[in-house]
Amino acid sequence: MTSGRPARSASFTPRTRPVVPPIHQSVTYFLDEQSYKDVQAGGLDEIWYGRFRNPTVDVAADEVARLEEAEAAFMTSSGMGAIATSLLTLLRAGDRVVAAQQVYGDTRDLLVRDLPAWGFDVVQVDAVDLDAWRREVAAGPTRVLYVETLANPQLELADLPALARIAHDAGAVLVVDNTFATPYNVQPLALGADLVVHSATKFLNGHSDAIAGVVAGSYDLVREVQRRVITLGTCLDPHAAYLVWRGMQTFELRVRQSNETAKALAAALVQCEDVVGVRHPSLPDYPRAEVAGRVLRRDASGPRTGAMVSFTVAGGDERALQVMRRLRIACEATSLGGVETLVSTPFNSSHFSLTAAERRAARIDDGMIRVSCGVEPADDLVEDFLSALEETR
Ligand SMILES: Cc1ncc(COP(=O)(O)O)c(C=O)c1O
Repeated sequence: MTSGRPARSASFTPRTRPVVPPIHQSVTYFLDEQSYKDVQAGGLDEIWYGRFRNPTVDVAADEVARLEEAEAAFMTSSGMGAIATSLLTLLRAGDRVVAAQQVYGDTRDLLVRDLPAWGFDVVQVDAVDLDAWRREVAAGPTRVLYVETLANPQLELADLPALARIAHDAGAVLVVDNTFATPYNVQPLALGADLVVHSATKFLNGHSDAIAGVVAGSYDLVREVQRRVITLGTCLDPHAAYLVWRGMQTFELRVRQSNETAKALAAALVQCEDVVGVRHPSLPDYPRAEVAGRVLRRDASGPRTGAMVSFTVAGGDERALQVMRRLRIACEATSLGGVETLVSTPFNSSHFSLTAAERRAARIDDGMIRVSCGVEPADDLVEDFLSALEETR
């Protein structure tokens, strides 16, 4: 310490105002009378302590709010942080959650292992069976309906308008994980959802270099979540927030390109004799075509069908591993939404905690490979998959 004087906060003049938001790597901020008033009023408005708010984290959240056309958004430490914090915001002891059976593995563990241990009542239903949703919501006082827009990894597309109606008729809220679909393809809030959660680690960040989450929705609901972020400590680090912000500057370009690649890959795989099933909303035999027509955003070239493809190879999980290991462009790695194409087999990665019978019940086939299309030239990527399949014949 060279001086007893506190450091001055950096302030910007018209000539030093940056185009790129700086990383506010400061935990604490100078206080004035207004800050103290805010602290006493709950501390949600002013920026005075990093676990409550941080300017860089706010900039990233504003960008997500823009993409989801939400009143407000708040960043969290991870996608699981967003999901757990949202549910713990909405639920009170004894409350019931009706959730889709087809969800990410760790979300499932939270729903079926952790929440019941904490005194919440959780039931799972087939994501596409609206009668089952209605039945379970009517079976007890339900507070939350939980679903993934495009399920990981089955790519079932949720009928969000119908689920929102079921939720609202019962006085419940609809929470939607929009990680797989992304707001480029689906905007759940516009379709009736109350809260959108994301693993911002994925397409929003887009470069596989930061773990982050986000919650978006009405101002009031997001503020409630923010209160829980403060007490649960699920806040985002400003460095990670900067990386997510930077990734989002190319969000639409990347997802548009990855969507096109996914379409080309799905069309090529369907023709392949070694492939027994392909799931992608662009395919003519996509079982949720009617829902796709109402839920997917569209542009001049048609519906935006997403950057994720799941396909099943003849020969089961063993063959799937062989295929994956012969790929030269696509990377065998968990996660998704990066500029590089990522492939994984759900049975030993995202859904390893399920038994084989549970995986079958959730329609995760033996031999399924999940592909997150990156931004490589589509032709090269298609060739990569076709060669790998041929080499394992
Ligand atoms: C659909 C979905 N939701 C949530 C998560 C959790 O995200 P994170 O790893 O950022 O906690 C994942 C992770 O793969 C996911 O695929």
